[in-house]
Amino acid sequence: NILDLILRNVDWVKNSSELFDLVVKLCTEVTGADKSYFHILDETIGSPVLIASFSRDKSGLDPNNHLAMEEVLLKRISAGAPLLVKDGFDLRPSNLCIRSLIVNPMKIREKVFGALTVVMVEEGARPFTEKDLYYLNFIARRAGFVVENMALYENIYENLFATLYAFVEAIEAKDPYTKQHSSRVAEFAVRIGRQVGVSQEELDLLNFSGHLHDIGKIGIRDSILLKSGPLTGEEYSVIKEHPIIGANIIGHLGLMSEEQRIIRYHHERWDGKGYPDGLSGEEIPFLSRILAVADVYDAMASDRAYRKRIPQEMIIKTIHRNAGKQFDEKIVKAFLKAYETGEMFNKEDFAMLSSPIQHPTRLESSMLDRFCPNTY
Ligand SMILES: [Fe+2]
Repeated sequence: NILDLILRNVDWVKNSSELFDLVVKLCTEVTGADKSYFHILDETIGSPVLIASFSRDKSGLDPNNHLAMEEVLLKRISAGAPLLVKDGFDLRPSNLCIRSLIVNPMKIREKVFGALTVVMVEEGARPFTEKDLYYLNFIARRAGFVVENMALYENIYENLFATLYAFVEAIEAKDPYTKQHSSRVAEFAVRIGRQVGVSQEELDLLNFSGHLHDIGKIGIRDSILLKSGPLTGEEYSVIKEHPIIGANIIGHLGLMSEEQRIIRYHHERWDGKGYPDGLSGEEIPFLSRILAVADVYDAMASDRAYRKRIPQEMIIKTIHRNAGKQFDEKIVKAFLKAYETGEMFNKEDFAMLSSPIQHPTRLESSMLDRFCPNTY
Protein backbone atom coordinates (compact mmCIF):
# COMPACT_ATOMS: atom_id res chain seq x y z
CA ASN A 1 0.00 0.00 0.00
CA ILE A 2 2.80 2.39 0.86
CA LEU A 3 4.61 1.74 -2.42
CA ASP A 4 1.35 2.23 -4.26
CA LEU A 5 0.77 5.53 -2.42
CA ILE A 6 4.24 6.70 -3.46
CA LEU A 7 3.74 5.69 -7.10
CA ARG A 8 0.30 7.24 -7.30
CA ASN A 9 1.55 10.57 -5.91
CA VAL A 10 5.01 11.02 -7.35
CA ASP A 11 4.21 10.17 -10.95
CA TRP A 12 1.51 12.80 -11.31
CA VAL A 13 3.18 16.02 -10.21
CA LYS A 14 3.14 18.92 -12.64
CA ASN A 15 6.41 20.72 -11.92
CA SER A 16 9.64 20.30 -10.01
CA SER A 17 8.76 22.47 -7.00
CA GLU A 18 5.52 20.53 -6.54
CA LEU A 19 7.52 17.32 -6.73
CA PHE A 20 10.06 18.42 -4.09
CA ASP A 21 7.33 19.52 -1.66
CA LEU A 22 5.45 16.30 -2.20
CA VAL A 23 8.51 14.14 -1.74
CA VAL A 24 9.45 15.56 1.69
CA LYS A 25 5.85 15.24 2.82
CA LEU A 26 5.70 11.63 1.65
CA CYS A 27 8.99 10.82 3.39
CA THR A 28 7.62 12.16 6.67
CA GLU A 29 4.37 10.25 6.27
CA VAL A 30 5.85 6.94 5.20
CA THR A 31 8.70 6.76 7.77
CA GLY A 32 6.98 8.64 10.61
CA ALA A 33 9.96 11.05 10.72
CA ASP A 34 9.85 14.34 12.64
CA LYS A 35 11.49 16.20 9.77
CA SER A 36 12.36 15.54 6.15
CA TYR A 37 14.72 17.39 3.83
CA PHE A 38 15.43 17.45 0.13
CA HIS A 39 18.88 18.78 -0.72
CA ILE A 40 20.37 19.24 -4.15
CA LEU A 41 24.11 19.27 -4.58
CA ASP A 42 25.26 22.58 -6.02
CA GLU A 43 28.43 21.61 -7.83
CA THR A 44 29.58 25.22 -8.29
CA ILE A 45 29.80 25.81 -4.51
CA GLY A 46 30.40 22.16 -3.69
CA SER A 47 27.74 21.92 -1.01
CA PRO A 48 24.16 20.73 -0.66
CA VAL A 49 21.41 23.34 -0.99
CA LEU A 50 18.09 22.85 0.81
CA ILE A 51 15.29 22.75 -1.77
CA ALA A 52 12.33 21.56 0.32
CA SER A 53 11.64 20.50 3.89
CA PHE A 54 8.71 19.24 5.90
CA SER A 55 8.37 19.25 9.65
CA ARG A 56 5.66 17.69 11.82
CA ASP A 57 5.81 20.48 14.36
CA LYS A 58 6.57 23.20 11.80
CA SER A 59 9.93 23.99 13.40
CA GLY A 60 13.16 23.55 11.51
CA LEU A 61 16.54 22.34 12.69
CA ASP A 62 18.58 25.11 14.21
CA PRO A 63 21.24 26.58 11.89
CA ASN A 64 24.16 24.95 13.72
CA ASN A 65 22.60 21.54 13.34
CA HIS A 66 21.89 22.35 9.78
CA LEU A 67 25.52 23.05 9.03
CA ALA A 68 26.53 19.85 10.74
CA MET A 69 23.93 17.96 8.75
CA GLU A 70 25.36 19.36 5.52
CA GLU A 71 28.67 17.81 6.47
CA VAL A 72 27.05 14.42 6.95
CA LEU A 73 25.16 14.91 3.70
CA LEU A 74 28.28 15.76 1.74
CA LYS A 75 30.02 12.63 2.97
CA ARG A 76 27.02 10.53 2.00
CA ILE A 77 26.64 12.21 -1.36
CA SER A 78 30.25 11.61 -2.26
CA ALA A 79 30.02 8.01 -1.02
CA GLY A 80 26.83 7.60 -3.09
CA ALA A 81 25.44 5.07 -0.59
CA PRO A 82 22.62 5.52 1.94
CA LEU A 83 23.25 6.01 5.65
CA LEU A 84 21.04 4.70 8.44
CA VAL A 85 21.78 5.92 11.97
CA LYS A 86 19.67 4.18 14.58
CA ASP A 87 21.30 5.74 17.61
CA GLY A 88 22.04 9.46 17.49
CA PHE A 89 25.12 8.82 19.60
CA ASP A 90 26.91 7.81 16.37
CA LEU A 91 26.64 11.42 15.21
CA ARG A 92 28.15 13.00 18.32
CA PRO A 93 31.34 14.34 16.71
CA SER A 94 29.20 16.49 14.43
CA ASN A 95 27.12 17.87 17.37
CA LEU A 96 23.86 16.88 15.77
CA CYS A 97 20.99 16.65 18.27
CA ILE A 98 19.39 13.88 16.28
CA ARG A 99 18.13 10.59 17.66
CA SER A 100 17.86 8.71 14.40
CA LEU A 101 18.57 9.60 10.79
CA ILE A 102 18.53 8.30 7.23
CA VAL A 103 20.31 9.99 4.35
CA ASN A 104 19.51 8.60 0.94
CA PRO A 105 21.45 9.96 -2.03
CA MET A 106 19.37 10.65 -5.15
CA LYS A 107 20.78 9.71 -8.51
CA ILE A 108 20.13 10.28 -12.17
CA ARG A 109 21.88 7.67 -14.29
CA GLU A 110 24.09 6.67 -11.37
CA LYS A 111 25.23 10.26 -10.78
CA VAL A 112 24.31 11.69 -7.37
CA PHE A 113 22.48 15.01 -7.66
CA GLY A 114 21.02 15.37 -4.18
CA ALA A 115 19.81 13.60 -1.09
CA LEU A 116 16.65 12.82 0.83
CA THR A 117 17.05 12.99 4.59
CA VAL A 118 14.67 12.04 7.38
CA VAL A 119 15.36 12.68 11.05
CA MET A 120 13.88 11.84 14.43
CA VAL A 121 14.57 14.57 16.99
CA GLU A 122 11.86 14.10 19.60
CA GLU A 123 12.89 12.47 22.86
CA GLY A 124 11.70 8.86 23.03
CA ALA A 125 11.11 8.68 19.27
CA ARG A 126 11.52 5.24 17.71
CA PRO A 127 14.69 4.79 15.69
CA PHE A 128 14.44 4.29 11.93
CA THR A 129 14.68 0.75 10.63
CA GLU A 130 15.87 -0.97 7.44
CA LYS A 131 12.26 -0.93 6.31
CA ASP A 132 12.19 2.89 6.50
CA LEU A 133 15.43 2.96 4.55
CA TYR A 134 13.84 0.75 1.89
CA TYR A 135 10.85 3.12 1.54
CA LEU A 136 13.04 6.19 1.42
CA ASN A 137 15.21 4.55 -1.20
CA PHE A 138 12.12 3.74 -3.24
CA ILE A 139 10.88 7.37 -3.05
CA ALA A 140 14.35 8.68 -3.95
CA ARG A 141 14.58 6.41 -6.99
CA ARG A 142 11.11 7.26 -8.15
CA ALA A 143 11.65 11.00 -7.65
CA GLY A 144 15.02 10.79 -9.43
CA PHE A 145 13.28 9.20 -12.38
CA VAL A 146 10.61 11.93 -12.47
CA VAL A 147 13.24 14.70 -12.11
CA GLU A 148 15.17 13.20 -15.03
CA ASN A 149 12.06 13.17 -17.20
CA MET A 150 11.19 16.73 -16.24
CA ALA A 151 14.70 17.93 -16.99
CA LEU A 152 14.63 16.22 -20.38
CA TYR A 153 11.21 17.64 -21.16
CA GLU A 154 12.16 21.15 -20.03
CA ASN A 155 15.37 20.94 -22.01
CA ILE A 156 13.63 19.87 -25.20
CA TYR A 157 11.05 22.64 -24.87
CA GLU A 158 13.60 25.28 -23.92
CA ASN A 159 15.61 24.37 -27.01
CA LEU A 160 12.50 24.40 -29.16
CA PHE A 161 11.39 27.81 -27.89
CA ALA A 162 14.90 29.21 -28.28
CA THR A 163 14.87 28.03 -31.91
CA LEU A 164 11.45 29.55 -32.55
CA TYR A 165 12.46 32.86 -30.95
CA ALA A 166 15.56 32.83 -33.13
CA PHE A 167 13.30 32.50 -36.19
CA VAL A 168 11.29 35.52 -35.06
CA GLU A 169 14.46 37.50 -34.44
CA ALA A 170 15.65 36.57 -37.93
CA ILE A 171 12.39 37.86 -39.42
CA GLU A 172 12.59 41.06 -37.39
CA ALA A 173 16.24 41.59 -38.25
CA LYS A 174 15.32 41.84 -41.95
CA ASP A 175 13.29 44.93 -41.19
CA PRO A 176 14.96 47.33 -38.75
CA TYR A 177 11.56 48.82 -37.94
CA THR A 178 10.17 45.65 -36.45
CA LYS A 179 13.15 44.90 -34.22
CA GLN A 180 12.00 43.66 -30.81
CA HIS A 181 8.36 44.17 -31.86
CA SER A 182 7.33 40.65 -30.82
CA SER A 183 8.94 40.76 -27.39
CA ARG A 184 7.30 44.15 -26.72
CA VAL A 185 3.94 42.77 -27.86
CA ALA A 186 4.41 39.82 -25.49
CA GLU A 187 5.19 42.21 -22.65
CA PHE A 188 2.24 44.52 -23.37
CA ALA A 189 -0.15 41.58 -23.79
CA VAL A 190 0.88 40.22 -20.39
CA ARG A 191 0.31 43.65 -18.80
CA ILE A 192 -3.16 43.94 -20.33
CA GLY A 193 -3.83 40.33 -19.33
CA ARG A 194 -2.94 41.12 -15.72
CA GLN A 195 -5.28 44.10 -15.83
CA VAL A 196 -8.21 41.93 -16.98
CA GLY A 197 -7.27 39.36 -14.34
CA VAL A 198 -6.41 36.28 -16.43
CA SER A 199 -4.76 33.29 -14.74
CA GLN A 200 -1.01 32.68 -14.54
CA GLU A 201 -1.40 29.88 -17.08
CA GLU A 202 -3.05 32.33 -19.51
CA LEU A 203 -0.32 34.91 -18.86
CA ASP A 204 2.23 32.25 -19.86
CA LEU A 205 0.22 31.54 -23.00
CA LEU A 206 0.13 35.27 -23.80
CA ASN A 207 3.86 35.56 -23.31
CA PHE A 208 4.55 32.59 -25.57
CA SER A 209 2.05 33.60 -28.28
CA GLY A 210 3.13 37.24 -28.10
CA HIS A 211 6.70 36.26 -28.90
CA LEU A 212 5.65 34.01 -31.76
CA HIS A 213 2.52 35.72 -33.15
CA ASP A 214 4.23 36.83 -36.38
CA ILE A 215 6.40 33.74 -36.91
CA GLY A 216 4.30 33.02 -40.01
CA LYS A 217 5.96 35.98 -41.74
CA ILE A 218 8.82 33.60 -42.39
CA GLY A 219 6.69 32.33 -45.27
CA ILE A 220 6.07 35.77 -46.83
CA ARG A 221 8.25 37.09 -49.65
CA ASP A 222 10.62 39.92 -48.67
CA SER A 223 9.45 42.01 -51.63
CA ILE A 224 6.05 42.21 -49.92
CA LEU A 225 7.12 42.10 -46.28
CA LEU A 226 9.68 44.89 -46.62
CA LYS A 227 7.82 47.02 -49.15
CA SER A 228 7.99 50.66 -48.15
CA GLY A 229 5.00 51.87 -50.17
CA PRO A 230 1.36 50.84 -49.81
CA LEU A 231 0.52 47.22 -50.62
CA THR A 232 -1.61 46.20 -53.58
CA GLY A 233 -4.72 44.14 -52.90
CA GLU A 234 -2.93 41.02 -54.01
CA GLU A 235 0.09 41.71 -51.82
CA TYR A 236 -2.15 42.35 -48.84
CA SER A 237 -3.88 39.02 -49.33
CA VAL A 238 -0.46 37.32 -49.27
CA ILE A 239 0.35 39.13 -45.98
CA LYS A 240 -2.96 37.94 -44.57
CA GLU A 241 -1.69 34.37 -44.79
CA HIS A 242 0.87 34.89 -42.01
CA PRO A 243 -1.38 34.01 -39.04
CA ILE A 244 -2.31 30.71 -40.74
CA ILE A 245 1.31 29.91 -41.62
CA GLY A 246 2.34 30.76 -38.04
CA ALA A 247 -0.36 28.55 -36.49
CA ASN A 248 0.66 25.71 -38.82
CA ILE A 249 4.34 26.00 -37.87
CA ILE A 250 3.40 25.80 -34.19
CA GLY A 251 1.09 22.86 -34.96
CA HIS A 252 3.75 20.88 -36.83
CA LEU A 253 5.98 21.12 -33.79
CA GLY A 254 3.32 19.37 -31.76
CA LEU A 255 2.57 22.37 -29.56
CA MET A 256 -0.84 22.64 -28.01
CA SER A 257 -3.80 23.77 -30.04
CA GLU A 258 -4.44 26.73 -27.72
CA GLU A 259 -1.24 28.48 -28.83
CA GLN A 260 -2.13 27.74 -32.44
CA ARG A 261 -5.56 29.29 -32.03
CA ILE A 262 -4.24 32.43 -30.34
CA ILE A 263 -1.70 32.98 -33.13
CA ARG A 264 -4.11 32.18 -35.95
CA TYR A 265 -6.64 34.75 -34.75
CA HIS A 266 -4.44 37.68 -33.71
CA HIS A 267 -5.68 39.79 -36.66
CA GLU A 268 -9.38 39.05 -36.25
CA ARG A 269 -11.57 42.03 -35.42
CA TRP A 270 -14.45 42.27 -32.96
CA ASP A 271 -16.74 43.45 -35.80
CA GLY A 272 -15.82 40.46 -37.99
CA LYS A 273 -13.85 42.47 -40.55
CA GLY A 274 -10.47 40.96 -39.68
CA TYR A 275 -8.55 38.03 -41.10
CA PRO A 276 -7.92 35.14 -41.76
CA ASP A 277 -11.36 33.70 -40.91
CA GLY A 278 -13.50 36.77 -40.30
CA LEU A 279 -14.49 35.62 -36.80
CA SER A 280 -16.35 38.17 -34.71
CA GLY A 281 -17.01 38.98 -31.04
CA GLU A 282 -16.66 36.12 -28.62
CA GLU A 283 -15.84 33.68 -31.44
CA ILE A 284 -12.34 35.15 -31.30
CA PRO A 285 -10.26 33.53 -28.52
CA PHE A 286 -10.03 35.90 -25.54
CA LEU A 287 -6.23 35.89 -25.52
CA SER A 288 -6.13 36.70 -29.27
CA ARG A 289 -8.24 39.77 -28.51
CA ILE A 290 -5.66 40.88 -25.94
CA LEU A 291 -2.82 40.19 -28.36
CA ALA A 292 -4.60 42.25 -31.04
CA VAL A 293 -4.62 45.39 -28.88
CA ALA A 294 -1.01 44.92 -27.76
CA ASP A 295 0.08 44.31 -31.36
CA VAL A 296 -1.66 47.37 -32.80
CA TYR A 297 -0.48 49.57 -29.92
CA ASP A 298 3.17 48.66 -30.48
CA ALA A 299 2.89 48.81 -34.28
CA MET A 300 1.46 52.34 -34.13
CA ALA A 301 3.97 53.43 -31.49
CA SER A 302 6.95 52.48 -33.66
CA ASP A 303 8.24 53.65 -37.02
CA ARG A 304 7.41 51.31 -39.88
CA ALA A 305 8.84 51.01 -43.38
CA TYR A 306 5.60 52.46 -44.74
CA ARG A 307 5.03 55.26 -42.18
CA LYS A 308 6.45 57.17 -39.18
CA ARG A 309 5.41 56.37 -35.62
CA ILE A 310 2.10 57.82 -34.54
CA PRO A 311 2.00 60.18 -31.56
CA GLN A 312 0.91 58.51 -28.31
CA GLU A 313 -2.13 60.73 -27.91
CA MET A 314 -3.37 59.76 -31.36
CA ILE A 315 -2.78 56.05 -30.67
CA ILE A 316 -4.79 56.19 -27.47
CA LYS A 317 -7.65 57.96 -29.20
CA THR A 318 -7.55 55.50 -32.07
CA ILE A 319 -7.67 52.46 -29.80
CA HIS A 320 -10.39 54.12 -27.74
CA ARG A 321 -12.36 54.90 -30.86
CA ASN A 322 -12.09 51.33 -32.06
CA ALA A 323 -13.49 49.72 -28.92
CA GLY A 324 -16.43 47.59 -30.03
CA LYS A 325 -15.31 47.85 -33.68
CA GLN A 326 -11.83 46.51 -34.15
CA PHE A 327 -11.29 45.58 -30.51
CA ASP A 328 -13.20 44.01 -27.66
CA GLU A 329 -14.41 46.84 -25.42
CA LYS A 330 -13.37 44.97 -22.24
CA ILE A 331 -9.81 44.67 -23.50
CA VAL A 332 -9.66 48.33 -24.52
CA LYS A 333 -10.80 49.31 -21.02
CA ALA A 334 -8.05 47.17 -19.51
CA PHE A 335 -5.53 48.61 -21.96
CA LEU A 336 -6.50 52.19 -21.06
CA LYS A 337 -6.24 51.35 -17.36
CA ALA A 338 -2.79 49.83 -17.86
CA TYR A 339 -1.88 52.89 -19.90
CA GLU A 340 -3.11 55.29 -17.24
CA THR A 341 -1.10 53.54 -14.55
CA GLY A 342 1.99 53.88 -16.76
CA GLU A 343 2.39 50.15 -17.47
CA MET A 344 2.33 50.52 -21.25
CA PHE A 345 4.86 53.28 -21.37
CA ASN A 346 8.35 53.78 -22.60
CA LYS A 347 10.19 56.08 -20.22
CA GLU A 348 10.60 58.84 -22.81
CA ASP A 349 6.84 59.10 -23.20
CA PHE A 350 6.30 59.44 -19.48
CA ALA A 351 5.29 63.10 -19.69
CA MET A 352 2.02 61.97 -21.30
CA LEU A 353 0.89 60.55 -18.01
CA SER A 354 0.47 63.94 -16.38
CA SER A 355 -2.53 64.62 -18.60
CA PRO A 356 -5.52 62.29 -18.30
CA ILE A 357 -6.66 60.27 -21.32
CA GLN A 358 -8.70 62.49 -23.62
CA HIS A 359 -11.67 60.96 -25.39
CA PRO A 360 -11.79 61.89 -29.08
CA THR A 361 -13.88 64.90 -30.03
CA ARG A 362 -16.51 64.58 -32.75
CA LEU A 363 -14.22 66.12 -35.34
CA GLU A 364 -11.39 63.82 -34.35
CA SER A 365 -13.73 60.84 -34.42
CA SER A 366 -14.59 61.40 -38.05
CA MET A 367 -10.89 61.79 -38.80
CA LEU A 368 -10.01 58.66 -36.85
CA ASP A 369 -12.67 56.74 -38.75
CA ARG A 370 -10.72 57.37 -41.89
CA PHE A 371 -7.45 56.54 -40.18
CA CYS A 372 -6.88 52.82 -40.52
CA PRO A 373 -5.04 51.27 -37.59
CA ASN A 374 -4.79 47.95 -39.43
CA THR A 375 -1.33 46.55 -39.11
CA TYR A 376 0.23 43.27 -39.96
FE1 LIG B 1 0.65 39.84 -37.35
